[in-house]
Amino acid sequence: MISGGELTWVMSKGVSGMGDGLASGPRAVGWNQTEEAEELAQWVRICGLAEAPKPGNVMEAEAGGVGICLANVNGELSALENLCPHREGPLGQGWIEGDTVVCPWHSWAFHVKTGLSEYPVDESVDVFPLRVEGEDVLVQIA
Ligand code: FES
Repeated sequence: MISGGELTWVMSKGVSGMGDGLASGPRAVGWNQTEEAEELAQWVRICGLAEAPKPGNVMEAEAGGVGICLANVNGELSALENLCPHREGPLGQGWIEGDTVVCPWHSWAFHVKTGLSEYPVDESVDVFPLRVEGEDVLVQIA
């Protein structure tokens, strides 16, 4: 949500943007929309750090009603959309190969940081921002 201070800032930007003419208008609106989207996204606890997968492992989890594949590659956690775009296989029941999570059903592999598939190309899953706060693993969902 936008706090009082931020709302004042947005309002002042909007007023100054109106005086800048059409050329600067859309740019200012786009920036504000991005900021607003970030404000509306929420950080949700997905699990405790002790429950997170160990290096080389994956697990299924849920955050705010969204299915997540939590993956650990070399000690670094990543959160991907759990459903494979092929036939909705559960990526969190798959395995790690290199920097990818491999779907357990037909072996499509998705990079844990970009969500892009190695084969077939042009397929992808969402990757969610993730952070560790104390003993909690949090993901940011829209
Ligand atoms: S459902 Fe994932 S590869 Fe087929």
